[in-house]
Amino acid sequence: MILEIKKYPDEVLRQKSLPIEEITTDIKELASNMAETMYNAPGYGIAAPQVGVSKRLLVIDDSLGSDPTKLMKIVNPEIIESSGELFEEEGCLSIPGEYEFVKRYNCVKVRYLDLDGKECLIEVEGLLSRIFQHEIDHLDGHLFIDDISILQRDRIKKSIKSRIKAGEYRVTKTL
Ligand code: NI
Repeated sequence: MILEIKKYPDEVLRQKSLPIEEITTDIKELASNMAETMYNAPGYGIAAPQVGVSKRLLVIDDSLGSDPTKLMKIVNPEIIESSGELFEEEGCLSIPGEYEFVKRYNCVKVRYLDLDGKECLIEVEGLLSRIFQHEIDHLDGHLFIDDISILQRDRIKKSIKSRIKAGEYRVTKTL
């Protein structure tokens, strides 16, 4: 099922998500709906708050669906090591149509649980590293527009305002 993607400035995007204590069938269903929503968008990743659920769950696929083995469903992720630097243009499904360059780590090591509750450790770099950092930020209510200059942020906010007025950007409301 394709879920509604919450759009900035929806309040749910600013909440800190809670850890998942038990991987229930509801969580598994949510993860598969999130994957469907991500592929439909399309995007490289989606975090549960982006579909209105404040839980620490992500789905990521850096192949955009072209390689089915690339889909990752990630519970309670934690960055435990980081190194290097990247500076590339980013966007977000919750801030559609707006892009800006963001500073990230080139390499991160992430600890998480898979949907079977098994602890996993993954070391990623480049694009996949950026996706992980961007999506994990969502779990803490943090958006890529928080990591750019005030000038760049104001430009994006102005652009969104005028797009809302023109009916080209539909804000959602959760809570
Ligand atoms: Ni995003």
